[in-house]
Amino acid sequence: MHEPALVDDVTNLLSGAAVVVDMTVGGGGHASALLEAGVDRVIGIDRDPDALAIASGRLARFGERFRAVHRRFSEVEEADVQGPVAGVLFDLGVSSLQLDRPERGFGYRVQGPLDMRMDSSDRPSAAELVNALSELELADLIFRLGEEPRSRRIARAIVRARPIETTDELARVVVGAVGRRPGGPHPARRTFQALRIAVNRELEELAASLPRAVGFLAPGGRVVVIAYHSLEDRIVKRALRDDERLSVLTKKPVRPSEDEIARNPRARSARLRAAERLGEAA
Ligand SMILES: C[S@@+](CC[C@H](N)C(=O)[O-])C[C@H]1O[C@@H](n2cnc3c(N)ncnc32)[C@H](O)[C@@H]1O
Repeated sequence: MHEPALVDDVTNLLSGAAVVVDMTVGGGGHASALLEAGVDRVIGIDRDPDALAIASGRLARFGERFRAVHRRFSEVEEADVQGPVAGVLFDLGVSSLQLDRPERGFGYRVQGPLDMRMDSSDRPSAAELVNALSELELADLIFRLGEEPRSRRIARAIVRARPIETTDELARVVVGAVGRRPGGPHPARRTFQALRIAVNRELEELAASLPRAVGFLAPGGRVVVIAYHSLEDRIVKRALRDDERLSVLTKKPVRPSEDEIARNPRARSARLRAAERLGEAA
């Protein structure tokens, strides 16, 4: 099960909407809460066919009020959303359904193939990337997308240990390169984040999708975005602030409470921003 982050904030912002496009439906947690809160219809997008199957099963009880669409959110079209909508939600990153399944190859704590593709028909996989890039390219990627200060040392160790085919091999190589502080975060965390973002082209997807999503909104409609690291949050902040069609509703990002973090530690880094489409309602 994936525990959705900031679910009350999302439902408060979007519950008045007739139709919401959930661009990252995942396990259907937010979608289910929105349908329960009175949203008439939710169109659920995801690039991961396994996630869509799970969401469709979970939301079957809502009948025609839920519709699943297999797409990257950068490729969602007018025909998928069927006219102006009152709400668009992005809950970025990966779900627990992906992270906790060893065979998907996202986790540094579980043993699996080094894959990390949200849609397994996409290329390259993380193993292909790790085994093909030069040391300099790897160091740059881990520095930029993982914000990892020890990227050069890690890249050198990776290149020496290649080929690397599994998550646990990669985690061991990183620990070997930079050591492990007792009680500290796992040293491979940032390297795995960098590879995941690169494999799924997450920042490009996000930058391309936000203006498109605003185009689907009816006047008065809202876009709500939850980001989980500063690279994403920076793109969201600028895109909402600089879009002349929008008025920003969140001066500062909304963060989860201590209670929520205690219940759902994966919500720890969540930052929600929201904006409303300007213009006369029809
Ligand atoms: C954090 S999870 C969403 C969880 C969901 N809100 C819930 O309550 O269960 C993010 C989901 O977005 C999907 N995703 C990430 N990037 C995507 C993209 N560019 N296009 C479509 N889906 C994407 C992932 O496959 C994943 O299922």
